Amino acid sequence: MGNFIFHGCDTVELARKYGTPLYVVSEDEITSRIRAIKSCFDEKYERCRTHFASKAFLTRDMLRVLIDEGLGLDVVSGGELYLARGVSFPASRIAFHGNSKTAREISDGMEYGVGKFVCDSVDEINLIDETARKSNLRANILIRVNPGVEGNTHKHILTSGGGTKFGLSPEAVVNAMPVLMKMKNVSPLGFHFHVGSQLMDESAHLAAADVLLSLIRDLRSKMGFETRILDMGGGFGVSYTDADRPIPVECFIEAMVKRVEEFCAGSGIKRPDLIIEPGRYITGPSGITLYTVCGVKEVPGVAVYVGIDGGYPDNPRPALYGAVYDAVAANKYGEPPDCKVTIAGKCCESGDIVIRDIALPAVERGDVIAVLCTGAYNHAMANNYNKTPIPAIVAVKNGRPRLSVRRQTYADLYACDPLLDTKAPSAPAE
Ligand code: LLP
Repeated sequence: MGNFIFHGCDTVELARKYGTPLYVVSEDEITSRIRAIKSCFDEKYERCRTHFASKAFLTRDMLRVLIDEGLGLDVVSGGELYLARGVSFPASRIAFHGNSKTAREISDGMEYGVGKFVCDSVDEINLIDETARKSNLRANILIRVNPGVEGNTHKHILTSGGGTKFGLSPEAVVNAMPVLMKMKNVSPLGFHFHVGSQLMDESAHLAAADVLLSLIRDLRSKMGFETRILDMGGGFGVSYTDADRPIPVECFIEAMVKRVEEFCAGSGIKRPDLIIEPGRYITGPSGITLYTVCGVKEVPGVAVYVGIDGGYPDNPRPALYGAVYDAVAANKYGEPPDCKVTIAGKCCESGDIVIRDIALPAVERGDVIAVLCTGAYNHAMANNYNKTPIPAIVAVKNGRPRLSVRRQTYADLYACDPLLDTKAPSAPAE
């Protein structure tokens, strides 16, 4: 019994010191997850690279950890690239993804010298070719392939199969390849797939790898195209609650590597360099969000609502994907559960429910709630609905907390529409 300790830090003290809502991320956990996945991949395959999908969680501190740990970086927008440039992230280790890149994003990526563009359409490749020609450059590209495989996950985070906008079909690639191979300012190095996110086992990855490997073999036999890189995406699931039982990430990697090796040995194609690009696996379980209870209200026969000072703006995932989280009462940690409650966010939306029907000790106004496993796609997807400032991020390393990203102020909310009256009420305390 006592306070909930997260990687050596008392979360109730963190809430007091930095205010709530508050994202807390453990850099130790991030580093150890990076090392687990990278070392497993490095041991199993001779030429491979692990990238981090920055869309999952992007801060300057995160980029510094990635630089130190030797990871590559996936960006999908000019905004993500901007921060990477800001910390001088090694350009050659950056892959620029995205299904709808603007001309500006392409020229920004080229100017910085990103290692490769991962392309989603022939139109995009034409634009890259034209842009590179103007600067007398040659851009490396991977072509995103939709392997037509449907993984078992929420349909909004499924990125392969009939209903998705991503990538080219293998047939479309075969048709486009003769033209792409002749382009003067583009070097096609290989192919990419990403079947989806929060996958619990390796089956979809393997089915997709089979499609890509057959394509690689056919392109070689039909037109002599030698694939140098195969990027197998991310998507390795994590456990949000006891109901999620993902296979260990090592099993994902082992299975994929084995499939590539066996296929290459059997078909005589050269082994491509391999890339994986996890996001959620690295940061998801490394973060939590702290909230203060604003009030408790029982609606007889419906629910006991525990209203908190955050919700949809800092975590839109329950509303968007029906995502389910676990939580603890941070200042009553270990106390026996009292009853099932529904943790309600503060937005004017009935859908702003953070967790339904969770057993907690009796909580009251002023208590601190820690929602677990919020390190991926929470800060990244945070928004200002109801003009709610985005919470601060505290990074914990060796049991010591430090402010990593400050809380938005009210003035930040209106930075593009500033008040002329300089005597306006000041921002909330940091
Ligand atoms: N590579 C590509 C090309 C991707 O599109 C993604 C995620 C990843 C890698 C990383 O996937 P991960 O290892 O994190 O599963 N907002 C959603 C997730 C969308 C993921 C989209 N792509 C959510 O909150 O669940």
